[in-house]
Amino acid sequence: MLSEVVKHLAVKPGGIYIDCTLGGAGYTLELAKRVGPKGRVLALDMDIAAISNAKEKIAKQAIENVILVQENFKNIAPVFHEYFKKEELVDGIVFDLGLSSFQLSDKKRSFSFQNDVPLDMAFGKKAEKQTVEIINNYKLLDLTEIFREYGEEKNAYKIAKAIVLERKKRKIETTQDLVDIIVKQYPKRAYYKIHPATKVFQALRIETNQEFNNLKTALADISKILKFKGRIVVVSFHSGEDRIVKQFFKNNEEIMPIVKKPVVASENEVASNPRARSAKLRSGIKVV
Ligand SMILES: C[S@@+](CC[C@H](N)C(=O)[O-])C[C@H]1O[C@@H](n2cnc3c(N)ncnc32)[C@H](O)[C@@H]1O
Repeated sequence: MLSEVVKHLAVKPGGIYIDCTLGGAGYTLELAKRVGPKGRVLALDMDIAAISNAKEKIAKQAIENVILVQENFKNIAPVFHEYFKKEELVDGIVFDLGLSSFQLSDKKRSFSFQNDVPLDMAFGKKAEKQTVEIINNYKLLDLTEIFREYGEEKNAYKIAKAIVLERKKRKIETTQDLVDIIVKQYPKRAYYKIHPATKVFQALRIETNQEFNNLKTALADISKILKFKGRIVVVSFHSGEDRIVKQFFKNNEEIMPIVKKPVVASENEVASNPRARSAKLRSGIKVV
């Protein structure tokens, strides 16, 4: 969605932009080029791996207008004030939510059920919850609710019940422990459209990092740091997140949506990056 993001942000040379989700630094580097030497880009990520990777890229390309900060974007306003002068405001803010392909493909981390490693879906050290605690201590109905709400998992109750029974016998510690329990709750079939553990893993990641709450907190603070006619762009991958963004534009009197319906990825983009299939972009402009 890079070209759409740049278009909706209407990036200005010399402007100040915030990339709230640095990830592989694709958006940050593009913004840095477009704002030029007089502009600045503040890029946040909770994940130290994203920060280190971006540091290398920035050094190689001799880019000097990017400030990298390992922080949760829920603290967007205080972090901005820490690095910018009191009288400065932001021209544009972008969120590209969720997990990066970099994190998903890291074999030492437990975002993918294909790696047999200890369960820890935190984006960074300061994550709000611990995945192992959630799995081993949450009540049956709380587990059911997160699997249903964050995973849109049809077998939420059945899987949660199996987890509760299993953890009476032993602590559930690794991705494989969890995958084994989930797979048993599905009828034996040679082929599934997606792996049976996909949705539960997504739900646990969202709960571990409190992703929906972070987004709500950040959006509530945006107006304080955005310039008049400044823009905000949010790319989401989950219907729950998109709902939060839609509600935000509906209820906020200072920021108006730029387009009524969310923008989706082109067929070409989906062909080269299947994850883009569920991407929805919403954007807004500050009108007061
Ligand atoms: C989809 S990736 C971003 C990809 C990026 N646009 C690029 O060009 O590569 C999302 C990133 O946001 C980070 N992230 C998620 N929630 C966050 C939060 N609350 N605060 C800071 N970073 C967060 C994740 O660690 C991940 O690296």
